[in-house]
Amino acid sequence: MQTYDLIQKTRRMEPLSPDEITFLVEGFTKGEIPDYMMSAWLMAVCCQGLTPEETAVLTAAMRDSGDCLDLSPVGAFTTDKHSTGGIGDKTTLLVAPIVAACGGFVPKMSGRGLGFTGGTIDKLESIPGFSTSLPIERFLEITKTVGCCVIAQSGDLTPADKKMYALRNLTATVDSIPLICASIMSKKLALGADGILLDVKYGSGAFMKTPEDAEILARLMISAGKAAGKSCRALITDMNAPLGTAVGNALEVTEVIRMLRGELRNSLTELATALAAQMLVMADMGNIVECRKKAEDAVSSGAALEKFAAMIEAQGGDAHVCETIGLLPQAACSLTVKAARRGFITAIQSEEVGLACLDLGAGRTAAQPEIDPGAGVVLHRTVGDFISAGDPLLTVYGKNQTVCETAAVRLQNAVELKDAPAAEHPMIYKIMD
Ligand code: URA
Repeated sequence: MQTYDLIQKTRRMEPLSPDEITFLVEGFTKGEIPDYMMSAWLMAVCCQGLTPEETAVLTAAMRDSGDCLDLSPVGAFTTDKHSTGGIGDKTTLLVAPIVAACGGFVPKMSGRGLGFTGGTIDKLESIPGFSTSLPIERFLEITKTVGCCVIAQSGDLTPADKKMYALRNLTATVDSIPLICASIMSKKLALGADGILLDVKYGSGAFMKTPEDAEILARLMISAGKAAGKSCRALITDMNAPLGTAVGNALEVTEVIRMLRGELRNSLTELATALAAQMLVMADMGNIVECRKKAEDAVSSGAALEKFAAMIEAQGGDAHVCETIGLLPQAACSLTVKAARRGFITAIQSEEVGLACLDLGAGRTAAQPEIDPGAGVVLHRTVGDFISAGDPLLTVYGKNQTVCETAAVRLQNAVELKDAPAAEHPMIYKIMD
């Protein structure tokens, strides 16, 4: 088998056989296929696509490139959840304790921030003492006893994806639907949960810009998951505006705690409840109406907050943050931006909000590898709200006045104010199984 011939086949849209795809993935992971040949194949995929069958085989081959976890010590149906990423997306922090409070089991491996999108691990690490690198045995034990545990990806899981993702980043081949599908699903399959719920986002702050593309990606991910014998569902959700009101690590944890205390309700509450309900249905805990009620009750009774505190404690963190939010790290400086005119907020460019947060120190860049856990933005009003001139629009948090002022200007331009409200977008565009 020659790599050259396989590149040519994909370029001509001739499907590759399972052996040919496995040859490419194994050869590249072992270093036998050089980067320039893999780059050419990735570009051929990016331009010509792959069939769903090829994508499922690619996903399985990437899963098999490294270790796969055995979750059987948990002794129950386990459900994983994946979001394709967005601004202010802290749903894992809500969904995991809600599902655990309802009797479900959520073993979760998450990532750090990538570019302007925040990472669940960075958010959790803003809690004093919280450890996201635990031995696998402890990860399984906490999942079994508490019901949820969130750690950073560890061990030798999907080395093929690590190498391919690095190459895609350098060769403008990140935004290919089959490659995104194989990258995400290979990691989900290697973790090994019985059920996988996908939150596939579309909009200005997401990989997929339209709901139609998000649906194509979701369909492909479900088919790759089902081909590997997993129960899979997907929600197609709106990421045209940041999710909830906070963006930035400790600020997002604050929002989660306030939501679990029942002090705050917004679009994020709606999405987290819908995701948790789907995960409970997948775990056979009732129909969707019953599971939605269970999820809502878990929040209103305080049981989900208790689970969140139990998870923090089990992972070495200071669970007192759930009562005393001031124990979370705070930025040195803050600045409140007021509305320059009256009107309805018709759009908030979430990508701009993400970039402003990067400037504030809430994310990692090559020039600034350390995160400021207290940095970020809190929106006082969101899309659809009316605001009077001079009312507080948002507050930025950063290490000094200069970074706050720069971010404030950027953010003021990211918020669109009009005389009439824009047509409403539902948060959940579609549910697919
Ligand atoms: N997230 C991933 O893990 N992989 C992709 O390709 C895109 C988003």
